[in-house]
Amino acid sequence: MSIVIVNGQEIEVGDDEQLNGIEIAERAGLEVPHYCWHPGMSVVASCRMCLVETGRKNPETGEIQMMPKLSPACQTPATDGSVFVTNSEKVKQARAMVEEDLLIRHPIDCPICDKAGECRLQDYHFEHGQGERRADLKPFTSRRRPLGETVTLFVDRCVMCTRCVRFCREISGTSELMVANRGAHEEIDVFPGFPLNNKMSGNVVDLCPVGALGDKDFLYSQRVWFMQTHDHVCDGCSTGCSIHVDENQDHVYRIRPRENPEVNEWWMCDDGRYGWKHVHSPERLTEPMRQIAAEPGKLQPARLEWSQAPDAIDGALRKAGRLAAVLSPHLTVEEAYLLAKYVRSIDPQAVLAVGPVVQVGEPEKYPNGFTIQAEKCPNRRGVETIVNRLGGELLGWDDFVARLEKETFGGVWVSGGYPSAWIDEATAAKFANVKTLIVQDMFRSPLWEKAHFQLPGAASVEREGSYVNHHQRLQSFGWAIRPPAGVMVEGRLYWRLLQRPGMYNGAQLMGEIAREIVDFAAAAPGVPPNGVDLRVNQLA
Ligand code: SF4
Ligand code: SF4
Ligand code: FES
Repeated sequence: MSIVIVNGQEIEVGDDEQLNGIEIAERAGLEVPHYCWHPGMSVVASCRMCLVETGRKNPETGEIQMMPKLSPACQTPATDGSVFVTNSEKVKQARAMVEEDLLIRHPIDCPICDKAGECRLQDYHFEHGQGERRADLKPFTSRRRPLGETVTLFVDRCVMCTRCVRFCREISGTSELMVANRGAHEEIDVFPGFPLNNKMSGNVVDLCPVGALGDKDFLYSQRVWFMQTHDHVCDGCSTGCSIHVDENQDHVYRIRPRENPEVNEWWMCDDGRYGWKHVHSPERLTEPMRQIAAEPGKLQPARLEWSQAPDAIDGALRKAGRLAAVLSPHLTVEEAYLLAKYVRSIDPQAVLAVGPVVQVGEPEKYPNGFTIQAEKCPNRRGVETIVNRLGGELLGWDDFVARLEKETFGGVWVSGGYPSAWIDEATAAKFANVKTLIVQDMFRSPLWEKAHFQLPGAASVEREGSYVNHHQRLQSFGWAIRPPAGVMVEGRLYWRLLQRPGMYNGAQLMGEIAREIVDFAAAAPGVPPNGVDLRVNQLA
C-alpha cells in the first residue's frame, strides 16, 4: 500500500491501483477541475485546468520538496510519497487564468445554449474564475454546422479539449472527428463526405464539457433544470446499459448513459439513446377492453374499467380450465414471477413459456469491448430463470405455439410489451381455440385483435423492477415516468390479482424472490446501483 499526501491529508492507495492527481484528490473529497481528462480515454493534458502543486516526501527525512512549476494533475501519477496541493493561491490563480483565457474566445451563449446548467465552463467560471471580466464580451456568432445525423457543432463554443476526437479514435474506433487548422484557428471538424454517423456518436455530446456539441434530437427542447433525472436500465438489447432518464412531467426528453464499470462503463449506443420514442407514440393502447356476448354466439368489445378488471379476469380464468402464460422477455423479473405465481395459483399445472425473443442481425462489437447485442430484449435471462424454476421445463415461444396445435388451453395469458411488431397473422391464428385469451401489450397486433381481454401495458421507463442482462448481471430500477392514463403497469395488475396487501414494491419483491429462487440469491441483501452478478452463487 502507498501513502499519498493531498493538502496535508494522508490518503491510502492499494498496490493494484493506478490513480492520477484528479482521482486521488477525489478520494480525499476534493474536486480538481478538468476539461480534457476523462477516465475512459487517453491522457493529453492539454486544457491545463487541472494544474496543481506537486512534490515528494523524502521517506528517510520526512522532508517535502515541491516542484517549482505547477503540474497537470491528470498526468501526474499518485505514487508512494507523492504530495499534491490543490488549494494554494498559486493553484487558484492558475485556474482563474485558464478560465479567463477560455472565456476571452468563448461566446456568452448561456441563455440559448443547451448545456447551460450542466456546463463546466459556466460552473468553473463561478467557482474558479476571475472575480471580474477584464476583456470585452465576445458577441454571439453562432457558427453552427452538422457533424452527422445526430450531432451538431457550435464551433465557437469549443474549448479544444479533444475528448470527442479521442472518443472516435479510441472507443468507437471510427475516427470521424479531427482537429482542423492550427493554433488559435483550431476547430473540430469531419473530413468532407465522412460524417459522424457511427452508432456510438451520441456519446460525444455527453463527453463535451461545454455546449459545443449538441444532440439534434434534444436541442432546444428543455432547459436541463426543468427535468428530473432517474436511474434506469436500457431495454434496447440484452447488454442492459445503465442509463439516466431525463423527464419533465412524465415526458421523456433525453436518455444518457449512467456510469457502470460492470456493464457499459460511460457509454451507450444510439439505438438505446433514441429508441424510446414509442413511449409517447399516439398509437399506444390506453383502453382496457373485454369481449362480451352481445347476442348468442356473437362477441362484442366493451370498455372494461380497471376497478373491475381484476375480478372479471380472475372469474374468467377460474372457469377456463387448463391455463398457460407466456411471459414476455420485456417483463421484469418481479413481474414474470408474479404472473407465473398467479396462473399457478389457479391452475397448479399451468404451462409457463417465454415470449418471442427478437434477434436482429449480429452483435456489434466496438474496439473497447462495448457490444450492442443482437438480442433486442432486456430480460430473456431473468424470465427464463423464472420459467425454469417455477415452470419445470423451459418452454420457448416456438415450442408453445406448436403445443397450441396439439393441446387445448382454456385460458392463455400473453404479455407483450414489444416496441415494434412481434407477431404475425398466421401465428395469432393458432390462438383461435383459446376460450379466454388475455393479451397485455403496448401496441395493436394480430393477437390483440383476437383477445377476450385486451389490457394496455407499460413501457420500460414506466416500470419498476429488475432485468438480468446477457452476462447474468441483475440491475434494479424504479419507474421514471407514469404511464399514460388508461394503462396499468403489469406488476401492479399482477399484485392486485394475487390480492397481495399494500402496493407493488419492486425492491421488496426482489427480496422475496431472492429467498425463494436460488438463482437470484445474490440479490437478497439488496441490489446496488451497479447491479449484482448472479453467477457469484454458482459452482464453477
Ligand atoms: S467539441 Fe467539445 S468535446 Fe470536442 S474538443 Fe470541443 S469542447 Fe472538447
Ligand atoms: S447497447 Fe443495448 S442496452 Fe446498451 S444502449 Fe444500446 S440498445 Fe441499450
Ligand atoms: S484535465 Fe489535466 S490538463 Fe486537461
